Amino acid sequence: MASPLKKLILSFLLIFSSSTFNVASSDQPPCRRFKSIISFGDSIADTGNYIHLSSDVNHPPQAAFLPYGETFFRSPSGRYSDGRLIIDFIAEFLGLPYVPPYFGSQNVSFEKGINFAVYGATALDRAFLLAKGIESDFTNVSLSVQLNIFKQILPNLCASSSRDCREILEDSLILMGEIGGNDYNYPFFEGKSINELKDLVPLVIKAISSAIVDLIDLGGKTFLVPGNFPLGCSPAYLTLFKTVEEEEHDPFTGCITWLNEFGQHHNEQLKTELKRLQKLYPHVNIIYADYYNSMYPFFQEPARYGFKNRPLGACCGVGGNYNFTINEECGYEGVSYCQNPSEYVNWDGYHLTEATHQKIAHGLLNGPYATPAFDWSCIGSASVDTEYSFGS
Ligand SMILES: *[C@@H]1O[C@H](CO)[C@@H](O)[C@H](O)[C@H]1NC(C)=O
Ligand SMILES: *[C@@H]1O[C@H](CO)[C@@H](O)[C@H](O)[C@H]1NC(C)=O
Ligand SMILES: *[C@@H]1O[C@H](CO)[C@@H](O)[C@H](O)[C@H]1NC(C)=O
Repeated sequence: MASPLKKLILSFLLIFSSSTFNVASSDQPPCRRFKSIISFGDSIADTGNYIHLSSDVNHPPQAAFLPYGETFFRSPSGRYSDGRLIIDFIAEFLGLPYVPPYFGSQNVSFEKGINFAVYGATALDRAFLLAKGIESDFTNVSLSVQLNIFKQILPNLCASSSRDCREILEDSLILMGEIGGNDYNYPFFEGKSINELKDLVPLVIKAISSAIVDLIDLGGKTFLVPGNFPLGCSPAYLTLFKTVEEEEHDPFTGCITWLNEFGQHHNEQLKTELKRLQKLYPHVNIIYADYYNSMYPFFQEPARYGFKNRPLGACCGVGGNYNFTINEECGYEGVSYCQNPSEYVNWDGYHLTEATHQKIAHGLLNGPYATPAFDWSCIGSASVDTEYSFGS
């Protein structure tokens, strides 16, 4: 039965699968002409920095143990997931190697990418947060620290390359985040009020914005800037606020509405700031990555995306209604995990499964969750040499 509908579906599948196959090729696909990825952020993009930085051999980080990494790398890689992160899927899509962590990489070429993202990192500096009574226990490698290291080593990076510094930055996709999530996680979990949290938002946005401006000054041309996730759908937050009234939960998804609104509040402020920057620097592409809206449908229509019904619990973890107990988290001895991580949105209470990362990355790279959208058409990008033309 070759109905027009069936043909349409068939051709859609063909287009879809051919673009998936491109991903496997190690050469950079035509018209995806970023020569490298430069990444700043926290655990969402950490490909191995924290595991190297945490020198405390008596308390190695959770991500040093299985089942972290079990789905894809088959051993712990320092990533906070069962497998690949969003940044890994972006690298695959661009035909670039997985972005090597800056910390602990020996004899690794940073020619095609360098990653400063560190688990636990904040947009605001540790001392600044501490002065507000907010403790960030895990790392002091905040966004400005990451940026300063990058600036310090940049001359060396360029010296070992055939291209000059501005050229390297121009040809890079700069992943600015996700960052800022921890600036909120710490105070929420330390019992700060929602008003104290709201006061942080403009400061966090400012930190992200000035990092972008610094990188523009160095030659950066394309920025992918993610917003926050739906916090109120994460097992850690659902557990922390388990005493909230039933009506504070969205009846349809089970997520905590006011927490999601907080996440969206951050995102609105971030988008406003990015628009302001885009006007100030018209020759630069500043792309907002809508992590929130790319992920929220997974809770609204889980079956449609291959997830289990009401996917609010963590795959790896124990206890409570959401498989989450503080200090009994994934990676610790005796903590169990699910056999089918690809049916779970959430991996360990805070972080996401590879399946979720893959779907988010797809929604960014192929639309509709990047604003403005990437234009990978060879027509669009071939017509300009030094400047990428990205949609509207
Ligand atoms: C780094 O690479 C160089 C040349 O490829 C080699 O001579 C050197 O021994 C390597 N160093 C380490 C620490 O592996
Ligand atoms: C961060 O902490 C490390 C180790 O605790 C310390 O050596 C380093 O100086 C600190 N860096 C900053 C920027 O505070
Ligand atoms: C908790 O994890 C177990 C596997 O360890 C799984 O069978 C169960 O469905 C999970 N619960 C939730 C609420 O996701």
